[in-house]
This record gives sequence, C-alpha cells and structure tokens, in this order.
Amino acid sequence: MLLRTISVLLLHLSSLYLRLGAASVAPCSCSSVIVPVHVNVLVPKDPTDVFGGLKSNETSQRRVNATYDIYGVFCQPKAGNEDVLQLLAHGGSYTSQYWSPPIEEFQNYSYTAFSCERGLPSLAVDLLGAGLSSRPANASDVQFPTSAAALSQLAQHLKTASILPGVRPFQKIIGIGHSLGSALFNFGAIVDGVQSPFDAIVLTSILVFGPNDPPPGSGTSAVLIAARDADPLRWRTLDPAYVTINDRTAFYPPDPTEYSPRMLLFDGFTKDVISLSMAVQAASSSIPAANYTGAVAKVVGAKDQVLCAADRCVDVEALTAAEQVVWPAAKSFEILVLQGSGHDLDLDFRAGAAFETIFGLVTKFSK
Ligand SMILES: *[C@@H]1O[C@H](CO)[C@@H](O)[C@H](O)[C@H]1NC(C)=O
Ligand SMILES: *[C@@H]1O[C@H](CO)[C@@H](O)[C@H](O)[C@H]1NC(C)=O
Ligand SMILES: *[C@@H]1O[C@H](CO)[C@@H](O)[C@H](O)[C@H]1NC(C)=O
Ligand SMILES: *[C@@H]1O[C@H](CO)[C@@H](O)[C@H](O)[C@H]1NC(C)=O
Ligand SMILES: *[C@@H]1O[C@H](CO)[C@@H](O)[C@H](O)[C@H]1NC(C)=O
Repeated sequence: MLLRTISVLLLHLSSLYLRLGAASVAPCSCSSVIVPVHVNVLVPKDPTDVFGGLKSNETSQRRVNATYDIYGVFCQPKAGNEDVLQLLAHGGSYTSQYWSPPIEEFQNYSYTAFSCERGLPSLAVDLLGAGLSSRPANASDVQFPTSAAALSQLAQHLKTASILPGVRPFQKIIGIGHSLGSALFNFGAIVDGVQSPFDAIVLTSILVFGPNDPPPGSGTSAVLIAARDADPLRWRTLDPAYVTINDRTAFYPPDPTEYSPRMLLFDGFTKDVISLSMAVQAASSSIPAANYTGAVAKVVGAKDQVLCAADRCVDVEALTAAEQVVWPAAKSFEILVLQGSGHDLDLDFRAGAAFETIFGLVTKFSK
C-alpha cells in the first residue's frame, strides 16, 4: 500500500525558501511531498459519537477502507540529525502552514525553520480533509479513527521507506500536535498502544475533555459554521458537515497587544475546514491510553482562552495529577504551562519561547 513517495513541485512559498534564497549557504532545504496512505478502520455510524467509536460495539460501527494522499512539507537540515523525524500535525481549521506561515513578514514564526536550523528535520502534514491532502466527499468518513490512522500509517511508512531519494528511513518519529492534531496523536496512542510508531508525543494546546464537557472552543467566539456558507466561492460544493471557524480571536491571548493584528488577519485569510466529527471527538481523550509506552508531554499557554478558562491552568501540579491518570504506561508524563501564550502558541509574540520549549522536549525525547 503506502509505497510510493512522490515529490511534487508545487509552488510552495515557504518562509524558509524566501529566507534561504538570500543566504549563501542554505542550512536547510524543504520540499513538498505527497504520501499515499492506506487506512482500514471502523468508525462509528454516528459521526457525532464523542468517543470516536472507542466505546462502540460492531453493530454501531462501519468500515472505512481507503487510500488517501497526505500532503506535507519536509524540511531537512544540510547537517544534523538524520535519525529522528518530527511529524507535525496542525489544529482544526488550520493547515501545515500553522508551523511556518508562508510570508516573509512572519518568517520568524516558523517552528519548522527554528528546528531545522538547530539540526532536526520535520514533516508538517495537512490532516486528512484539510489543505492539499485528500478530502473525502463524505465528511463522515473523516472521523478520529480515520485521521489518527492516517498519521500512524504515515509514520510507520517513514520508518521503513525513504521520504525522498537519498534520505534514510527514520529510526525515531516524534509526533508534535497542535490542538486537534494533538487530540489525534492521543487517539492513535490509545488505539495503537505498544505498536505505536511514535516514540514520543508532544501535545500542544490540548487538555483532557470529558464526555460531558462542552467541546473545545465552545463559549468563545470560535463558532463552527458550514464551510460552504462561510466561503461559497471556495467551498460551495462541500458536504455541509465540513465546517470552519470565522472568528479566530479566541485562539490568541485576550490582550490584543500580545499578538500582531496582521497575524489574525492572515489567519482568517488562510483558514481551512474540518469535519464535524473532528470538532466533537476530542472527548475520546478521557479514555486511558493504557498501552502507550512512549514519553508524553503537554504544552499549553496560560492565556489559552479555549482551554484555560476558569483558572484551569494555574495550578500546574494539580493539572498534571489530573491528566497523567490517562497515561498509566507512558515512559514519562509532564505538563508545561507557558506564561503569556494563547491557544495558537506559534502565532503570538511569545512564539519564540514556545519554540524553545517544544524543541527542548524533542531534544530530550530524541536521546
Ligand atoms: C451495540 O450498541 C448499540 C448502541 O450503543 C446498542 O443499542 C446495542 O444494544 C449494542 N449491541 C450489543 C450486541 O451490545
Ligand atoms: C480493503 O480494501 C482492499 C482493496 O482496496 C481489499 O483488498 C480488502 O479486502 C478490504 N478489506 C476489508 C476488510 O474490507
Ligand atoms: C455518508 O456516508 C454515510 C455512511 O455510509 C451515509 O449514511 C451518508 O448518507 C453519507 N452522506 C452523504 C452526504 O453522502
Ligand atoms: C492493552 O493490552 C492488553 C494486553 O495485551 C489488552 O488486554 C488491552 O485490551 C489493551 N488495552 C487497550 C486499551 O488497547
Ligand atoms: C522575531 O524577530 C524579532 C526581531 O528580531 C524578535 O523580536 C522576535 O522575538 C522574533 N520572534 C520569534 C517568534 O522568534
């Protein structure tokens, strides 16, 4: 199945390219890749099942058995670690651009550039249904089991086959998620257990959601609307169960002097879609990842309006105690709360500190 990795010459205006174009010795190079992955999973017949089928019996499930193209941007240092890959998964209604906003003005908001310059390769993917990856016509095919399996299959593939000619398969893969991307790595850890291809996971901007908690973002201005109503020119033909978020201010700190208003504008222009299932199945994170044995770290912003309301992130020790119960077999578990950061850790004025933190965890887990 998964067997071909095609490098495509898409017009990828990466900040890295813009910057490196001027430099005499490029420390990094980036390429767009498309990797077909085969997914064969059971999904709940009810796409609003908050557990994503983890508590369902066979009669309430159906099979999704399909091959999807996963698009990503692979960045590789000219010299550095060739054995460890960071697999970056963006949040809901974003794309891989979250990890490297592709305009010069925002060139130092690039985690891919930050980590590549320090010697670590990354692959920032578009989740199934988003950006340039396959978007199944029927949004109810894009559920947690499907999307999480696509990430696991991709990682498994990259441990046995080379992503580009001349690049060896990777020995270790560290999953780094943002928000929904983190929830998907979490789901994969529950399902894959000891078989997980992820040696460690760094879950940014996610906390456990109980089945009775309101879904992430509710009570804020981050309201889900059908994508075809939000932008008919772009998305008129989409299944109405593909949704997006128009007002993105809740993803930034409450004080507007803590981020660039132009970043918020850019964020709005480049927003993407998620399926409705993606918006509700984060409650699956309340189920223990009983058999996942890699290291796990969570990173959240103290000013995250989506997660840290009601002083939830003030007492880090209590938060850690409450969250580590769902990781009984993990090699290690820690939570880091970043003072001043909002939900989109990478997009506000504290991004540099967030990059240091994430990179520090990856360095520790790479050993
Ligand atoms: C399967 O789950 C459905 C929905 O929760 C329930 O109505 C049904 O009784 C269950 N069937 C079996 C055989 O447990
Ligand atoms: C999944 O699809 C493949 C072909 O695409 C087929 O060979 C296989 O039998 C299918 N598996 C199931 C369980 O349906
Ligand atoms: C999507 O697939 C499900 C399950 O096969 C089906 O019940 C539903 O009618 C489909 N929706 C659309 C819009 O085709
Ligand atoms: C964990 O592994 C045990 C032993 O193999 C198995 O019985 C159990 O079902 C697994 N748990 C999960 C959540 O997969
Ligand atoms: C971007 O560069 C400016 C000016 O050099 C600096 O003040 C800021 O901290 C940098 N931001 C990040 C995210 O590194």
